[in-house]
Amino acid sequence: MNQALAAPVRIGLAGLGTVGSGLVAVLQQNADWITGRLGRAVTVKTVLVRDLTKPRAVTLGPGVSLTADAEALVSDPDIDIVVELMGGIDAAFALIHKALSAGKHVVTANKALLAKRGPELFALAAAKGLGLYYEASCAGAVPIVETLKSSLAGNRIKSIIGILNGTANYILSSMSEKGLPFADALKKAQELGYAEADPTLDIQGYDAAHKLIVLIRLAYGRNLPLEKLPVEGITAVTPEDIRFAREFGYAIKLIGQVRDLDGRLAAGVWPMLVHEDFLLASVKGAFNAVRVEGNASGPIMLHGKGAGDLPTASAVLADILALARQGMIPNNTGFLTEPLPEAELVDPDDFISPHYIHFTVKDQAGVMAAISKSMGEHGVSISQAVQKGVPEDGYVSIVFLTHEAQNRAITGVLTDTDAMAFIKPGTVHFRVL
Ligand code: NAP
Ligand code: HSE
Repeated sequence: MNQALAAPVRIGLAGLGTVGSGLVAVLQQNADWITGRLGRAVTVKTVLVRDLTKPRAVTLGPGVSLTADAEALVSDPDIDIVVELMGGIDAAFALIHKALSAGKHVVTANKALLAKRGPELFALAAAKGLGLYYEASCAGAVPIVETLKSSLAGNRIKSIIGILNGTANYILSSMSEKGLPFADALKKAQELGYAEADPTLDIQGYDAAHKLIVLIRLAYGRNLPLEKLPVEGITAVTPEDIRFAREFGYAIKLIGQVRDLDGRLAAGVWPMLVHEDFLLASVKGAFNAVRVEGNASGPIMLHGKGAGDLPTASAVLADILALARQGMIPNNTGFLTEPLPEAELVDPDDFISPHYIHFTVKDQAGVMAAISKSMGEHGVSISQAVQKGVPEDGYVSIVFLTHEAQNRAITGVLTDTDAMAFIKPGTVHFRVL
């Protein structure tokens, strides 16, 4: 049955880099399909960039204007939705603030902005009754935002454990499987469009931290200031530790996790040893995976492409379609309260897990005994230990896997052993999932 099509949804697109170009490509490729589903076309009216002369990965259709003036998006009454795919904080905040103030819905993939200044923007969107949607901000194509906001909305969320950064996972996989050096793997991830404009955010764990803060807000209705979250990146992970971990039956992964401990949240981002029997250990390359456990649903695992042009564009498009279909007050955070209260965190030193500790020690009598004595004094029980390799410069590696211990006890051991003359400074320590 033919029906008259409603007026098109008109997009003001800010950013024509990896994700912006991906969005234009999918809109062009799937135009008829989208129109068929929505009953109206989705068209890009204006595109905002910094450099008007730069060659682009996509050709904009006739009638689409390219501009370097943000006002052209926010003050155009013909634009229904502003899609922010620029990244960064200040310019993106200003654009979204102006767009919401001007009565436009907003879609963004900018997790850094939502982690740092989300509360201000969600308050403004709520006051205006507008949508501020962000499916692409967490885990690329994986629909984790909608899953937490809607599909699992009736559950108390017991935990979220995720591989949330494609670049870090790509680097760790490339080091582990292809023996690529860290720097080469990072360069390749940048070439493939996975990394942030500032890739230190990926390798130092902050991009995963931004996403975890967004997920915590969705799961618990709590804001968590970034500076309160313990964050460690993957820069200390070496091929040697990847090999040792594998010998014990583990992969090293950058994990973001939160657990609900009677209303207080135990949360952090760290490189962790993940046992090869866990699904998360087999998540490779730029793929992401999120394991969510609801008190009614039980555990759910979502897995998919966590970065890149088309996978991320898929999530951006989902938000555009959701807003275009929206007949009610938009559902931005999944909670009615505005502003949301701050999350109450468990002291990271109270966290309990097994631990991996790699000492580089002088190959001499008494070393193992001294380390074991310190572990005993701090109540840390050893599960496995290996000594490896011929002495290099008189030093060898001794690696321990411990049984569950509080982080505080491990810090005590490391403080003791750092002061031992026969141990090289810079002992490697990772938590085990
Ligand atoms: P990108 O390739 O660096 O592209 C950024 C685009 O924004 C460029 O076209 C740039 O213009 C434009 N831009 C930046 N600052 C601007 C400003 N102040 N005014 C006007 N235009 C500006 O970035 P991306 O990888 O597409 O990422 C975009 C956003 O998506 C970020 O928030 C990122 O965290 C997020 N994200 C990315 C991925 C991914 O896989 N890449 C996945 C999920 C989420 P010029 O081209 O003229 O320089
Ligand atoms: N730089 C991010 C990553 C992009 O590598 O996961 C997707 O958010």
